[in-house]
Amino acid sequence: MSNRSRNLPRRSCLSVPGSNERFLEKAPTVGADMTFLDLEDSVAPQEKEGARAKVVEAIRKQPWDDRVLCVRVNAWDTRWTYGDVIEVVSGAGERLDEIMLPKVQSAAEVVALDLLLRQVEANCGLPEGHIGIEAQIETTRGLIAVEEICAASERLETIIFGPADFAASMEMPVLTGGVEIPEYPGDHFHYVFSKILMAGRANGLQVIDGPYLKIRDTEGLRRFALRTRTLGYDGKWALNPDQVAILNEVYSPTQEQFDRAWDILDAYRTATEDEGKGAVMFGDEMIDEASRKMATKFVSRGERAGLSRSNS
Ligand code: GLV
Ligand code: MG
Repeated sequence: MSNRSRNLPRRSCLSVPGSNERFLEKAPTVGADMTFLDLEDSVAPQEKEGARAKVVEAIRKQPWDDRVLCVRVNAWDTRWTYGDVIEVVSGAGERLDEIMLPKVQSAAEVVALDLLLRQVEANCGLPEGHIGIEAQIETTRGLIAVEEICAASERLETIIFGPADFAASMEMPVLTGGVEIPEYPGDHFHYVFSKILMAGRANGLQVIDGPYLKIRDTEGLRRFALRTRTLGYDGKWALNPDQVAILNEVYSPTQEQFDRAWDILDAYRTATEDEGKGAVMFGDEMIDEASRKMATKFVSRGERAGLSRSNS
């Protein structure tokens, strides 16, 4: 449901292997903002086609509350993509919010999915545009084309960085993608994070960081997530409930930030509307229109995270 899910929070995006009935059953009990049932890399080739029916059944039968619900299909360079889309959307399209497309290398791949979705929606009696798209950037070609990819379809809701496949595509000498590399002076992904963020924001998309594969290293996850949180990302993938709890905290503004943002908005409104001033002192700081824009982001993120103002 494109319009329903576009602005819902995605601080934590839980990955659930679509062939594993036990994980599919447990997933709704994990408090992730977004959950995606995977048909791609966490499903073995011989299980791919059988996993579709399990995913359809889980979407239809499980209590998913109002979280964003997504299915990751296989990439266009396999033989499974169209079958995944047709079977999942015709079987469970009503509750499904989005399809995630991995390893996107060009805008044409997003357009192809958009066109296929349009036909499947028409055949199943779903409104046109009901299913949104999440696109993963995880190859060098995908990163080079990210600006066109982010502008390729009205259905796009998020752009996601996939660090593991990206490290492989770059032929980086690492065996775990998406973790710190202390030998590198700086953040080896800084350019990648920034490029994806700019392309996503320029097209009104939410921007999401991918998995942190050392699942027992909770402090490492927190440190790593703070990097993309600080740049402005909306959330990050989670592989288990412990990661979900950390990410929901990291990608939410604190109560103090939320209250301060509201105070800035109030002070700026009084200055511009009542006093006819464009810039005004707020404590020790000068605030102006740019401060209003920054504060507005904190307020909308805080509201998305369920905060309410404590000092009104
Ligand atoms: C996620 O799909 C990744 O490759 O990191
Ligand atoms: Mg990947």
